[in-house]
Amino acid sequence: MPSGASSNVRVYAHDPFPILFRKGLGSKVWDVDDNEYVDLLSSYGSVVLGHSHPAIVGAISEQIRNGTMLGTTTELEVEVSKKIQSAVPSAEMVSFANTGTESTMEAIRIARAFTGCDKILKFEGHYHGHHDYVLFSVESPSVVAGLEQAPSKLAYYPGIPDGISRTVVIAQWNDPASLEKVLKRNANDLAAIITEPVMGSAGIIPPKDDYLKNMRELADKYDVLLIFDEVLTGFRIALGGAQEFYGVKPDIACYAKALGGGTPIAAVAGRRDVMGMIGPGKIGYGGTYNGNSLCLAAANATLDQLLKNDGAVFRHMHLTGAEIVEGLRDLMARYDLGGIVQGIGPMFQLYFTEAKRILNYRHTLQSDLQKFRDFRNLMLRRGVYLHPDGTERMMITAAHDRSDVERVLSAAEDSFRELRKEN
Ligand SMILES: Cc1ncc(COP(=O)(O)O)c(C=O)c1O
Repeated sequence: MPSGASSNVRVYAHDPFPILFRKGLGSKVWDVDDNEYVDLLSSYGSVVLGHSHPAIVGAISEQIRNGTMLGTTTELEVEVSKKIQSAVPSAEMVSFANTGTESTMEAIRIARAFTGCDKILKFEGHYHGHHDYVLFSVESPSVVAGLEQAPSKLAYYPGIPDGISRTVVIAQWNDPASLEKVLKRNANDLAAIITEPVMGSAGIIPPKDDYLKNMRELADKYDVLLIFDEVLTGFRIALGGAQEFYGVKPDIACYAKALGGGTPIAAVAGRRDVMGMIGPGKIGYGGTYNGNSLCLAAANATLDQLLKNDGAVFRHMHLTGAEIVEGLRDLMARYDLGGIVQGIGPMFQLYFTEAKRILNYRHTLQSDLQKFRDFRNLMLRRGVYLHPDGTERMMITAAHDRSDVERVLSAAEDSFRELRKEN
């Protein structure tokens, strides 16, 4: 396996040494040496109910006996799309895929076909999966990144055809002036703005004030579609994701991760006239595994759990998230480490920085990412698993409870104390 992992983001986790997980249950994971960790990676957010939730295990086990892939539209597929439709404000139509990458790729194609325009506008530091159309300015080292208000466009890595670069324009996030400037310059051939509604690829960066409402208004003013990449936020910060949480409707939204409760399923949802571009004789939409019964069974069980007791799971995750965030803030202040914690419900990140607020990717880069890594390695020795890269984020699940909060905060207190001694 190149670099010893099936995804580059996992290679960072090989420092200080590779840890191979053997098992996950609820809020915990165990490595091959039987060390137990409170899991704050939560499989990059896919296991929204925790690992191997009994309802998902039951639904998958039953489906395995009745066929994992049936090859036609199924009743289960209709049932799950209706549940998504009733949960997501903008979902007049729903189409399934397998990964977040596929969902943003399809959303962009739909937007291009609907508008007849080639270009998309994306924001510096945002990650929308690993297809070529979105792999620009995902990482922007400061020496080549250009002005904060007018970021340079940088291919993420070699292998991305030069020609594709002409179809992408870059703006700074959380900065309405930067957005309007790029829109004005490109309005004639721009199909869509694609954004993470809460930026989760540089820690956790919530939209400032009315930024998303403003973005919606600008999209309308310049007659371009608005795509929300809700792969992280969907079915997590609220049942209807960020569009429900912030009360802003995109034209197309992309879902994956939490939707499948730990299985690979994704969805594209949106306006009827826009989604109606898909179909024979119109634009292509394909995938052997799209809407397979195994993952739909898991998604169905996940949605049922999320819908239960009037969204009690979300109240629980927001409360647990707030307890950890507040606890970490108190500890960072007590040990005078100079840092902040930003979060929305179950997603959060801490930054070692003198800044009061992190508003975009550049601010994250200016934080002390080495100190974050040192903190992470100290937490690891105390049985709490964090992703080592401070540009990622922590996720809690419905399975994390009071005892996990106590373990995390006690490990953090020890780690902060040690970190202070070392510095
Ligand atoms: C916001 C966002 N969009 C898209 C993706 C890509 O999803 P996947 O890894 O399922 O292809 C990710 C993955 O982390 C993501 O965080």
